[in-house]
Amino acid sequence: MSTGKMFISHLCFLSLTSVFPLGRASVPVVINTWPFKDAAAAAWSVLRSGGSALDSVEKGCARCEIEHCDGSVGYGGSPDESGETTLDAMIMNGNTMEVGAVADLRRIKNAIGVARAVMELTEHTLLVGESASVFAENMGFIAEDLTTNNSVNIFLQWLKGNCQPNYRKNVFPDPSKTCGPYKPRTILKQKGRTRQANTRSHDTIGMIALDKDGHVAAGTTTNGLTHKVPGRVGDSPIVGAGAYADSSAGAAAATGDGDVMMRFLPSYLAVELMRAGADPSAACKTAISRIKRHYSEFFGAIICANTTGHYAAACNKAPGLSQFHYMVSNSESDIPLLKTVDCF
Ligand SMILES: *[C@@H]1O[C@H](CO)[C@@H](O)[C@H](O)[C@H]1NC(C)=O
Ligand SMILES: *[C@@H]1O[C@H](CO)[C@@H](O)[C@H](O)[C@H]1NC(C)=O
Repeated sequence: MSTGKMFISHLCFLSLTSVFPLGRASVPVVINTWPFKDAAAAAWSVLRSGGSALDSVEKGCARCEIEHCDGSVGYGGSPDESGETTLDAMIMNGNTMEVGAVADLRRIKNAIGVARAVMELTEHTLLVGESASVFAENMGFIAEDLTTNNSVNIFLQWLKGNCQPNYRKNVFPDPSKTCGPYKPRTILKQKGRTRQANTRSHDTIGMIALDKDGHVAAGTTTNGLTHKVPGRVGDSPIVGAGAYADSSAGAAAATGDGDVMMRFLPSYLAVELMRAGADPSAACKTAISRIKRHYSEFFGAIICANTTGHYAAACNKAPGLSQFHYMVSNSESDIPLLKTVDCF
């Protein structure tokens, strides 16, 4: 009995000293996809002043919505096939496992804010389309046109280019009217066809944070795929696909070709692997490998963090993606640092 107790206390002592080696991973920490520095700084300022992981993720993602990071987040970017910009966002509380998400949100700029309102002010998890906008307006969010000169120009260029890409397969193209309407074709011909990699249309921000109390949160916000078929929703607002957080295991967030990635729930998979003992790097890589097995050239990356603030990222080597950049902010440097990982 007494030797058992001694053994346990000795172990505790060992783990305390080895979990916090000098100059390594520390808590709190916030990590986000892509080199979106201002978003990282906004999220970090919440954590460094003692704020919650949830507030950090919301503030960071909202920053990108205001700045429309890379044109892929917030209003005025990625117009769909009818020229309209629509937004998808999600936020997850890793303590309570509550999630709020919106998809195909129209006319409201602060999608992550609406996602948080879904989480905290309703019993629901995901609201979509016109009804999500009505909900947002009822909650005091301002309805505005999300179209800008930039999104109009992107739309006009696409019309001039005969509406390519239009993301359809197995349809009869009409040589005189390449912009549709399209007729379904019964013979499945294009199986295994590689999708066009386009870094500019896949740059969703995904963010994961761990606060000083050990609470984990994750969030995403995006305006989706440029020229998408109206109504298309990607991985970002889907729990376990775009992001996942569990304060007892860690968090992950994915970015890339959402149509493909959402079929594999990569963020959920990575968190479950960390729960089972995988370090963040192995968890990230396995989540990517699982997709790679079926879509060898998919465009995508994932960030992972475990409950001790250790983090990693992984990406699939594909046309247009040989390295992936992400931001890490913790007290080690006190400013967001740009990190790079080589894709495999
Ligand atoms: C948008 O375009 C219109 C007309 O083409 C122009 O009058 C307006 O100043 C532009 N707005 C911005 C913000 O550039
Ligand atoms: C987190 O990952 C690191 C390795 O990167 C590992 O040393 C640490 O023990 C892990 N923490 C937990 C709670 O599993």
